[in-house]
Amino acid sequence: MKRNVLLQFAAMALLAAVPFAVYAHEGGKHPDQGSNSLIEEMLILQKAFQEIVVAVVLKDNKGVINAIEPMKGTMEKTHESAHTGKISLPKNSGKLDKFIKMDKEFHHNLHLLEESAQKNDYKNMHTLTKKLLDGCINCHSTFRK
Ligand code: HEC
Repeated sequence: MKRNVLLQFAAMALLAAVPFAVYAHEGGKHPDQGSNSLIEEMLILQKAFQEIVVAVVLKDNKGVINAIEPMKGTMEKTHESAHTGKISLPKNSGKLDKFIKMDKEFHHNLHLLEESAQKNDYKNMHTLTKKLLDGCINCHSTFRK
């Protein structure tokens, strides 16, 4: 009997977690804004960056490499959508070139972080992670409301 109650609890907990899992997996489904590849890229970035911070702190270079993997290709999708007018920037929407430049620089730094992790270069991993955080904040202050 007690076991059944426990099982029921476990099932309820799992069910409660499902909507979040679906949100994280499908990405791009934003409650207010519908679906677009910029939001999708951001949700992947959010999860990946949390993992990166912990992995850098623990000098877990494999963790860094694994965290970067899902971000590959997200930028290209966003830029394609930006050019075909499928996404609109909430602020300074006319400065698309600047947005693309900032995003490219951000992903370039991610690539350098991956290379540093492959070389076990912890000092550079630290420097680049700080640079990436600045990248999130700079772009948000320009393009996010
Ligand atoms: C090159 C620009 C750029 C960079 C770099 C960037 N973002 Fe964003 N981000 C945006 C824009 C623009 C929005 C607003 C999108 C919207 O609301 O339509 C946004 C929105 C978000 C959101 C909200 C998504 C949602 O569901 O509304 C999260 C989370 C996020 N960014 C995380 C990050 C993190 C974490 C980083 C750095 C690791 C980062 N972003 C780097 C441009 C950027």
